Amino acid sequence: MKLSFTLLISVFFITIHHTESLAQHQHYHAPKYESGWSSSTSHPDHIVLNLAEDPATSMSVTWRTDTTVLQAMAEIAIATPAPKFWRYATVYTARTEKLDTRNVLQAGAVNHYHSVTFSGLLPDTTYAYRVGDGTHLSEWFHFRTAADQEKPFSFLYVGDAQNNILDLWARLIREGYRKAPDARFIVHAGDLVNHAHNEQEWHEWFKAGGFIHSSLPSIPTPGNHEMRSRTEAEEAQGKRFLSVQWRPQFTLPLNGVKGLEETVYYVDYQNTRIISLNSNEDPNIQTAWLEEVLKNNPNKWSVVTYHHPLYSASARRDNPDLREAWKPLFDKYRVDLVLQGHDHTYARGHARPNSENIVDGVNRRSNTGTVYVVSVSGGKMYILEPTGWDAFDDVEQDRNAENTQLFQVISIDGDRLSYASYTATGELYDAFDLEKSPDGKPNRFIERSNEAIPARYHHNTIPYN
Ligand SMILES: [Fe+2]
Ligand SMILES: [Fe+2]
Repeated sequence: MKLSFTLLISVFFITIHHTESLAQHQHYHAPKYESGWSSSTSHPDHIVLNLAEDPATSMSVTWRTDTTVLQAMAEIAIATPAPKFWRYATVYTARTEKLDTRNVLQAGAVNHYHSVTFSGLLPDTTYAYRVGDGTHLSEWFHFRTAADQEKPFSFLYVGDAQNNILDLWARLIREGYRKAPDARFIVHAGDLVNHAHNEQEWHEWFKAGGFIHSSLPSIPTPGNHEMRSRTEAEEAQGKRFLSVQWRPQFTLPLNGVKGLEETVYYVDYQNTRIISLNSNEDPNIQTAWLEEVLKNNPNKWSVVTYHHPLYSASARRDNPDLREAWKPLFDKYRVDLVLQGHDHTYARGHARPNSENIVDGVNRRSNTGTVYVVSVSGGKMYILEPTGWDAFDDVEQDRNAENTQLFQVISIDGDRLSYASYTATGELYDAFDLEKSPDGKPNRFIERSNEAIPARYHHNTIPYN
């Protein structure tokens, strides 16, 4: 009797306490960043790796300083446990570019961006590098080059970071790194920031990722939020331009469509071709190039990323022009996986393969065409389209989510691709495998979402609004 009374009292106090803490947290205090918070100094920051065209022998790095740094360099050596590995370092002189954005809305900075592409590297080797001007120097970072043959590897994929980048995206990308520290690169499917030219938001993105950006190369594709007017005059005319920081602050392969440099490009990583398309621009001007890189792909796997989904996850966000331009090519050349963003929900599903292509003796459900994913990593959340992809005959949605920050780990091992989506707290949310079939038949599809936690929606999670 006495025991239950104590229990009752405890429950009473826990309830009071819980109600009080809810009452205190009805309004979120977003962090305020004072002017000057995102300013550069003579010390290198915003140090970001990008894969170069041949990731087995080369790697690009870009960083930011103030304009007092006129000549910059990067040093690289094979990493060894002996701390004086730097005795064998090679020094590269950086290409330095001034970016004056004092007349650009929300930018208002003058910076120097420095970049180097390391070349002649050994495949499958861990290197140490640092950047600076010879006096002001970063720490040494490690990265590993790709193997020059088929070998298992994994990579991370995230949807829109975009909002609350430092306060809420930091935990997500750090959990991603904790889950897959050996991931070889990160695919960012657009809307990395909310206001394309906003220097403070880019600073948040670099600070949130910290040394992860300097150790795991980024494959970024631009979203609609990377497109904004630079001046009030452009705003009045409704003209939008790519983030002024994008090209100076990333060093991406220049193998894409002319006029869309560093937004449309591809990288071959071991047995996989990763293609970035620019869904902000006319998809039809990218199709001839896309067809070439799909047709002449010597790799086993092909993964395409861009921002606006071909099959939207959220209501009233359809992109029929993209679907009409690109879906036939994805089907024809059997693109394995498409990684998208934009809808601030999660949806994963598969295109139905043509019936004549189905492997004999295997039931229809075990075969798949391209798998399409929409994901979100930042703090902004929308509502799912309740009918899913029912309006389309050629695709089927298999798993979805609302109100959940997610990252994905994709592992490729020979003929098998394993996909896993994780929540910001590291629980498995979704999973499937693809297996290559002989003779160019459709991939075998192995559904694994039954290994994951129950589905998350607005109605069974902490209220968003
Ligand atoms: Fe977005
Ligand atoms: Fe978007």
